[in-house]
Amino acid sequence: MKGLVLSGGKGTRLRPITYTSAKQLVPVANKPVLFRVIEAIRDAGIDDIGIVIGDTGDEIRSAVGNGKRWGVRITYIPQETPAGLAHAVKISRDFLGDERFVMFLGDNCIQGGISPLIQQFGQSDFNAQIVLKQVSDPRSFGVAELDDNGRITRLVEKPREPLSDLALVGIYMFDHHIWEAVHAIRPSPRGELEITDAIQWLVSNGYLVYPYIHEGWWIDTGKKDDMLEANRLILEEMSGSVQGYVDRDSQIIGKVIIEPGAEIINSTIRGPAIIGEKTRILNSYVGPFTSIYHSCLIEDSEIEHSIMLEHSAVRGLPHRLEDSLIGRNVEVARSPLKPKAYRLMLGDNSSVGVL
Ligand code: G1P
Repeated sequence: MKGLVLSGGKGTRLRPITYTSAKQLVPVANKPVLFRVIEAIRDAGIDDIGIVIGDTGDEIRSAVGNGKRWGVRITYIPQETPAGLAHAVKISRDFLGDERFVMFLGDNCIQGGISPLIQQFGQSDFNAQIVLKQVSDPRSFGVAELDDNGRITRLVEKPREPLSDLALVGIYMFDHHIWEAVHAIRPSPRGELEITDAIQWLVSNGYLVYPYIHEGWWIDTGKKDDMLEANRLILEEMSGSVQGYVDRDSQIIGKVIIEPGAEIINSTIRGPAIIGEKTRILNSYVGPFTSIYHSCLIEDSEIEHSIMLEHSAVRGLPHRLEDSLIGRNVEVARSPLKPKAYRLMLGDNSSVGVL
């Protein structure tokens, strides 16, 4: 079996972070979401992985490389235009051949990995198996309807009136019949070749399409709050370890990971939290569900339930920073200048909450 990861897209809902960086490379608990996807596929026993890339392809290539570090082989498949998930499958034909494969959207996080579903599909005679998850509001996803025998009978992309509460989570398994399907379908009203329509084609043409209902958590990390939620859930499952330096005046409470080269001086870190390599925390408080990436500085400040990317600094804040996603090379600091004023230099589509 082969793996196909989709890692294109513009990431408009994560702007301004995604003006300069691929959304799949934003770290959650200090590891890019895309790396978690690659590891999940590898852990399911698949070592031949294709990654479909778009405008951010160069950045993805340089971050991921040839896959050696995970013991897998990576093949890049450039998609000239973002013409839909079924289009991404279509252009991956040479890589996939006639093998069965799992397709995984590169911005999705799923609890417990994908080994159980890969195993089930591998032992079945299903032509396709689609991972579904019960959600409270399915309107922003593909939605599936099942019959009494548990087989998928109908799929609709982002329905106004959902047929069920079962959302497609962005993990799909196919055999070679998908090739006929992706060639048969036409673009949807939003102008894309929808994978949902290709699966519907399989269903309508009598192929065996079954669900795999996922019971654990699943997060599509397209927006800031989803990113923070994935960060919270992953941090909760990690165990603490201190490899960096913690001075005597500091307190480490609960599950905290302090990576090598990090320094905690006269500060309190209350887990679950992770402090990246070469990051310095000085006279500060880092609260639960916070991930500070490498080479950052937190000084005379408090931060909680937040994600901070590399080479950023927070200094002298009079109030606690919460629910925040802070990009690379960002500085948030108290200004000593008179008159007293907010002085901002923000990118397009930034958002700031002031007291
Ligand atoms: C895509 C699929 C949708 C699925 C979702 C999961 O939507 O088209 O069926 O439910 O991923 O993340 P998109 O996020 O591209 O709008």
